Amino acid sequence: MSTRIGILTGGGDCPGLNGVIRAVTLHARQTYGWEVVGIRNGFEGLYEEEYVDLNASTVQHLLPRGGTMLGSSNRANPFAYPVKLPDGRVEIHDVSTRCLANLAKLDLHGLIVVGGDGTMSFSQKFIQRGATRIVGVPKTIDNDLEATDYTVGFQTAVEIVVQAIERLHTTAESHERIMVVEVMGRYAGWIALTSALAGGAHVCLIPEIEYDPDRVLEAFHRRHGRGVSYSIVVVAEGAKQKGGGHSVITAADPTKQEKLGGAGQRIADMISAKTEYEVRTTVLGHIQRGGSPCAFDRELATRFGVKAVELVAEGKFGHVAAIEHGKLVAKPIEKAVKKLKLIDPAGELVRTAKGIGIELGG
Ligand code: F6P
Repeated sequence: MSTRIGILTGGGDCPGLNGVIRAVTLHARQTYGWEVVGIRNGFEGLYEEEYVDLNASTVQHLLPRGGTMLGSSNRANPFAYPVKLPDGRVEIHDVSTRCLANLAKLDLHGLIVVGGDGTMSFSQKFIQRGATRIVGVPKTIDNDLEATDYTVGFQTAVEIVVQAIERLHTTAESHERIMVVEVMGRYAGWIALTSALAGGAHVCLIPEIEYDPDRVLEAFHRRHGRGVSYSIVVVAEGAKQKGGGHSVITAADPTKQEKLGGAGQRIADMISAKTEYEVRTTVLGHIQRGGSPCAFDRELATRFGVKAVELVAEGKFGHVAAIEHGKLVAKPIEKAVKKLKLIDPAGELVRTAKGIGIELGG
C-alpha cells in the first residue's frame, strides 16, 4: 500500500484554510508521491469515518476560495462529543477511543491538523494517548496562538474590519455621530487594535486593558472641544469595563466555549446614557470569517501547508508550523496550547496607539 497522510480542519473556519489544504495536497502528492485523505468536519469526520480523497484536481481553484472544502465544526470535541441516541436524545460522550481506533485503521504516515487552540489541545491529548504522528497548522482570525506571530485568517479579518471602519468614517462624519464597531477576537485584542491602527479609529477597547468609561467619554469631549464632532470606536468582543466581566451571549457547556457578544452595544448604551452624542453600533460578526483570503493569508497558508508536509517527512511530529520574526519554523504543539497570546499592555503596539492619541480606556 502506498504512503498516506491525512488532513482535517477543526474549530471555527477562516479564510485561508483551503490554501493550506491545497498546499498540503500538492506538496505531498507531487514531491513525495503520497496519497492525501481529507477528514470531513474536523474530528467529527474521524469519529464518523467521513473521508475524501484529495488530489490535484480536487484542490484546483481552491486558493482564493473562503471557508474550508473539508468542512469544520467547533462542536467536534472528541473528549466531550454530542452523541445522538436512537430515541433522539443527545448525550455527551468521550469518543476519543473510537477516534483513535479509526485513526489506526486509516494507517496514516502523518495527520495534519489545521486549527486553533481548541483543535490543538485535542491533538495534544491524542498525542499523549499514543497517536504521535500529528503535526499542526495554526489558524484563527483571533491570532491568539502563542506559538506563532501570525495565524492563517487573521490578516484577512483585519482587512475586512479596516474596510468597514473606512465606510463608517464617512457616514459618522456626515451625521456627526459616534460609530461603535464590535469586532471578534475572543479574549485577545489583535483584530481590534490592528484594525484601529490601520483604520484610523479614535477609541479602541481591548480585553487586555480594562476600560474606564470616564476616560472613554473624555476622549469624545476632547474631540468635540476641538470642533470634531464624530468618532470611531473599535470594541473587541472581549472588552471589559474596569472590575467588570465579559459580555456573554451563551455560557460555555462541556461541548463548547462561551459565546461573546454585546460589548459594543454596552459601550453605546453607556455613551447614550451619559452624553447627548448620537451613537450607532455595528457588529461585524461572521463577516470577518467569510470570503476570499487576502494575499498575505494565501501566502501564509501555502507556506504553512508545505512546512507541515516537511515536518511529516522529517518525522518531526508533535510540532506546528509557525512564523517567528518573519521566518518559517516548527514549534512544539504545547506552545500553541499552553497559554493564549495576548497584547502586551506595555508593548509597542499599545504605545503606538497611545502615541497617536487613540484612547484605549485605561
Ligand atoms: O475563534 C474565532 C471566532 O470567530 C471568535 O473570534 C468568535 O468569538 C467565535 O469564533 C465565534 O464562534 P461561532 O462561530 O461559534 O459563533
